[in-house]
Amino acid sequence: MKTYRLAVFPGDGIGPEVTDEAVRLLLAVAPRAGFALDLTQLPWGYHYWEQTGRVVPDDFLEVLRPFDAILLGAVGWPEKIPDHVTLAPLVRIRQAFDQYACVRPVRLMPGVRSVLADKGPADIDFVVIRENSEGEYVDCGSRVHIGQPNEIALQTAVHSRRGVTRIVRFAFEMARKRRKRLTMITKSNAQRYAYTLWDEILEELRAEYPNVAAEKQHADAAAMNFVRRPETFDVVVASNLFGDLLTDLGGIIGGGLGLAPSTNTNPERKYPSMFEPVHGSAPDIAGRGIANPVAAILSAAMLLEWLEQAPAAAAVRRAVEAALADGAKTPDLGGKLSTRQMGDAVLAKLE
Ligand SMILES: NC(=O)c1ccc[n+]([C@@H]2O[C@H](COP(=O)([O-])OP(=O)(O)OC[C@H]3O[C@@H](n4cnc5c(N)ncnc54)[C@H](O)[C@@H]3O)[C@@H](O)[C@H]2O)c1
Repeated sequence: MKTYRLAVFPGDGIGPEVTDEAVRLLLAVAPRAGFALDLTQLPWGYHYWEQTGRVVPDDFLEVLRPFDAILLGAVGWPEKIPDHVTLAPLVRIRQAFDQYACVRPVRLMPGVRSVLADKGPADIDFVVIRENSEGEYVDCGSRVHIGQPNEIALQTAVHSRRGVTRIVRFAFEMARKRRKRLTMITKSNAQRYAYTLWDEILEELRAEYPNVAAEKQHADAAAMNFVRRPETFDVVVASNLFGDLLTDLGGIIGGGLGLAPSTNTNPERKYPSMFEPVHGSAPDIAGRGIANPVAAILSAAMLLEWLEQAPAAAAVRRAVEAALADGAKTPDLGGKLSTRQMGDAVLAKLE
């Protein structure tokens, strides 16, 4: 029987609460689908920092490298420790393991109401692919005259031909397997160096994918169109910053952050890929047992798909959909179930 080694990094706040439920689903589906999971829990994050002065051990990348995949909850405890300290290892993982493709489905499931009036599941079903390795999130910049009235902060974005080409190609490939529509997010009307490169690369690749209808939209227009006519999107590809912003918007129109899963994938499979909900550690509700575990559970389903266990992934997704359609809901969706009860409701539907 095939055994996969998974690193489980629950993190902070609601991270451990929702990850527990995702792990329960994984452990339930594996024997039914005929494979085994060898899970290693990594107690990193705020509590680890309290004990050791670090949020992760110095050799954290070496610890993670041998695993087949990483399941992450969320990190961050902003009242106690600055976010740039807690989140720094995540950015390191994404960059060191070249997890350049961040895939975030935006899908309104039956039984869930969108904040958009009159929009149903048939209208909201697209995928946002966020470039995850460079762009606006490279650690490049400086501050001078700190604290003075003439202080200056410089933050440099880096867009390489190689980096943009591979993510736009990844998006074309996904569009080819879906409804054959691709929207590339640009802002070349105001950012005339970086985004003219994106525009040119779209034009270069278009010829290789004659069956995909590819267009570009400026980031501001795309934000409006996510709300105005979400049904026109199929695959959306965006830089690191624009993808970050648009996927929170996507999360909320798809029913809320409690439902939105995400991947950080290295498509060449040279390094482990990481799967996590779009949401953060939600300190406002942490410890109350009311977080919605569905985003974490659907992230685990994306992990199974990545491990080429598509039937198991589909079984988990079907169980989530059946539970939601039956009215199982946590407070963020207007229901009363606890995190554990929501996990139970999904487990009960697993075939
Ligand atoms: N990848 C990550 O680990 C990640 C991602 C985003 C934010 N963060 C960190 O998380 C912390 C909190 O950030 P934030 O408050 O801006 O964003 P957040 O996503 O944690 O929370 C935003 C809002 O959504 C709600 N929410 C989020 N997930 C939910 C769930 N599963 N069920 C029910 N409600 C849910 C929260 O209660 C909150 O009101 C910060 O430290 C931030 O840096 C981490």
